[in-house]
Amino acid sequence: MKISNLRVEHHAEPLGIGEPNPRLSWSFEGLEPNWQQQACEIEVQRPASSQVDVFTNPTSQSLYVPWPATALASREIAIVRVRAVSTAREYTDWSMPLTVEVGLLQPEDWACSLIQGPGQSSNTSPHIPVLFRRTFELHKSPQKARLYISAQGVYESFINGCKIGDHVLAPGWTSYDHQLTYQTFDILPQLKPGTNVIGAEVAEGWFCGRLGFGGGERNIWGSTLGLIAQICITYDDSTEDILGTDQAWKYSYGPLLRAEIYDGEVFDTRAMLAGWNTSEFQDRDWQSVKIGVLDYGILRAPDGPPMRRIQEIAAKNGWESPSKKFIIDFGQNLVGWVRCKLHGPSGLKIDLIHAEVLENGECATKPLRQAKCTDTVILNGQPVIYEPRFTFHGFRYLQVDGWPANSKSPDIQDFKAVVVHTDMVRTGWFECSDSVLNRLHENVIWSMRGNFLSVPTDCPQRDERLGWTGDLQAFAPTACFLYNPYGMLRTWLRGLTKEQQADPSKVPPLVSPNTLKGPPHPAAVWGDSVVSIPWDLFRGSGDRALVADHYSAMTDWIQKGIRRDDAGGLWDPGHPQLGDWLEPTAPPDDPGNGPTDEVLVANAFLIRMTDLMAQISLILGREKQSHEYSSEAAALRQEFARNYITDQGRVVSDTQTALALSIQFSLFPNSAQEQKAASRLVHLIKAKTRFKIGTGFAGTPILGHALTKVGQTQLFYRMLFHKKCPSWLYPVTMGATTVWERWDSMRPDGTVNPSNMTSFNHYAFGAIANWMHSNIAGLQPAEPGWKKICIRPIPGGSLTSCHARFLSPYGLAEVKWKLLDGQKLYVEASVPGNTTAEITLPGESPRDVESGVHKYTVDYEPPIWPPLPIYPPFMPHDDDEP
Ligand code: BGC
Repeated sequence: MKISNLRVEHHAEPLGIGEPNPRLSWSFEGLEPNWQQQACEIEVQRPASSQVDVFTNPTSQSLYVPWPATALASREIAIVRVRAVSTAREYTDWSMPLTVEVGLLQPEDWACSLIQGPGQSSNTSPHIPVLFRRTFELHKSPQKARLYISAQGVYESFINGCKIGDHVLAPGWTSYDHQLTYQTFDILPQLKPGTNVIGAEVAEGWFCGRLGFGGGERNIWGSTLGLIAQICITYDDSTEDILGTDQAWKYSYGPLLRAEIYDGEVFDTRAMLAGWNTSEFQDRDWQSVKIGVLDYGILRAPDGPPMRRIQEIAAKNGWESPSKKFIIDFGQNLVGWVRCKLHGPSGLKIDLIHAEVLENGECATKPLRQAKCTDTVILNGQPVIYEPRFTFHGFRYLQVDGWPANSKSPDIQDFKAVVVHTDMVRTGWFECSDSVLNRLHENVIWSMRGNFLSVPTDCPQRDERLGWTGDLQAFAPTACFLYNPYGMLRTWLRGLTKEQQADPSKVPPLVSPNTLKGPPHPAAVWGDSVVSIPWDLFRGSGDRALVADHYSAMTDWIQKGIRRDDAGGLWDPGHPQLGDWLEPTAPPDDPGNGPTDEVLVANAFLIRMTDLMAQISLILGREKQSHEYSSEAAALRQEFARNYITDQGRVVSDTQTALALSIQFSLFPNSAQEQKAASRLVHLIKAKTRFKIGTGFAGTPILGHALTKVGQTQLFYRMLFHKKCPSWLYPVTMGATTVWERWDSMRPDGTVNPSNMTSFNHYAFGAIANWMHSNIAGLQPAEPGWKKICIRPIPGGSLTSCHARFLSPYGLAEVKWKLLDGQKLYVEASVPGNTTAEITLPGESPRDVESGVHKYTVDYEPPIWPPLPIYPPFMPHDDDEP
């Protein structure tokens, strides 16, 4: 057994971390049978004091192990190794050493000022991106050099003309009133003896750019672009120099005339300033910066990885549209931008217009609403390679306008799509014998990639792209399987709950960072995210801090934020809710107005959240509160049943969502009622929607789990395999490469849903992948952090095999199954070291196993497929065909 992936907190790259006492975690590699850690040794080397200590920890804990040494100081480095010993007294080797470096912990560590270019208070025009620069001298030989840097806006920094680091859109987006993340870079390789230059380009980004629908708003958090940077150099002789942003910096403008998140960039290559960030450049006509005001207390080291350019995709095809526009297809709806080679006469303006889909052979830009999603390049007569840096687009197609009339069409080889997102570690893979289902899974991954850019957003293309809480509420369990999102979401959640707690009514904003004006609106499902998202993150990671940090925000929401009906403690029935958002029969322009009573939805979630509060309180050692929440949940259940459940188990909203929520959240007073409700749900699916979907944001993530709970997995497979609208596979049959916002974002005739809210890249309905992981592959955590794993594959539909892998916090967990001739099922499961698993095979009782590879061949009689429709054969219906 080998120790792998030694890490601190949720950092993938522990350079410039914000924790003086970072908790340590490690995984196990190797499939030794029955390997449990009995104790571990942690070696901490501190180069600053040449001290090496070894700490013994006589426990099986291998996640979030408290820092064993004294606290680290700002900028201190420690080198850590770990080895473990098993219950069979076998030692692992020492792990690979991990170098951990602390950033600037205290506000006083910042010996520099916020510098600003020109002020700009106008709410009507974008900020022109600003170049900042300053020279500094190096007379001694440096041994270590770090740059700590952040901006009010988005920045790129340079030393002596070289870009520092590979982050894009840094420092990302946060609730700027409460936190501003800074980055730490090693800049030793870029320094040179004599005169050096540090330069930074700052554009408006999210900080003061236009955000929000209906025209949006500019300057939400400030009206001036700002930069804060500090260089700390340690010389060979152990002396130190610190220099930072101050009055000596100058600013000017470059070729970038505009850079907006929604609208794109305007880049005038005629105005390029060669060498502006090198010492040869003359900055005499540059202007002096102003010093701004900054609360240094909000500066924070990041919890998660930065955004990066992750992948490049070559153009697949290019052609002239019916209206003679040149269109390039990248074959994949993605988020990022296009790098291209352009040429043409000086002054020629080329527009690169991005779109997710085509309609009537043309780029469909209407769904983008008031986002232009256009990068404009003005040429200087020379060939140029252009790539935007301070915007991003959600697109599959690129329309190239303004190409020189007398030259041949653009060469598609000159256009590459660059995929950009937060550089999370991929942890989950799923593949089965059905290629259409695999494409659906692929689409879910692409929608996660497209909407995990610094904050988790609803969509990446139109004039919205906001951190809608309800969307992540639906998707969080899926996200926690596919990638490691904990660091990124830790920062986001902190912002969300800080915004909530700053509000006197203790209501979380519907979007975080909050861009909406006025007091926050309490809404179930969306507001419930302050309870359910920390819970999902805890379940996936095993990190109690992720719930403990938000406990008071959770109690504030449950006890103060929710608008209750005085009598029974349920939601005030007159309070407007967003309901089962986007249920397929809701009117296109009134997506919350589906057939399920929105107050019922709110109350079902309220009970679920109260249950979670009881569990969370218990985990945090708050027995009294846990008990109180349990009794409250029991009382609310009674109230719910009184209001919504008949003696015979009918639920007053006779819909898939109402029944599924009531089943999954255990809202029936007795099991006979639950069984009646299950039969009714089966009836609705067969007779009313004919195997198609009847759920929106609230019901969709729950429906499959509810059907599995009542033994109706095969019926759910039938829904999952359905290809007519509305179904999960319908978009795949229409060529979708991401998950759509609406079940019918594109209609069967190829037209785009004409409502004012149609995205082709929204992850919420992608929550289906969570059901696929937990039931088709049969892989889910039985205990938080996957300390105990539940392995329970349920083959079904026309599938003949499945293979899923998951890099759990403890190491690789894997399930493979395959139907064999002669009614047999082969299952192979890998369980990582220091965990156990409960394996349940179809028709068999659960068995407990320890780490290692477990192989089984069992008798297996496939269930009847497809499940029979409800109507007799003389009343056939199109949708009954699988
Ligand atoms: C967003 C959704 C969001 C909803 C709630 C929409 O505009 O795109 O995904 O949850 O509004 O009102």
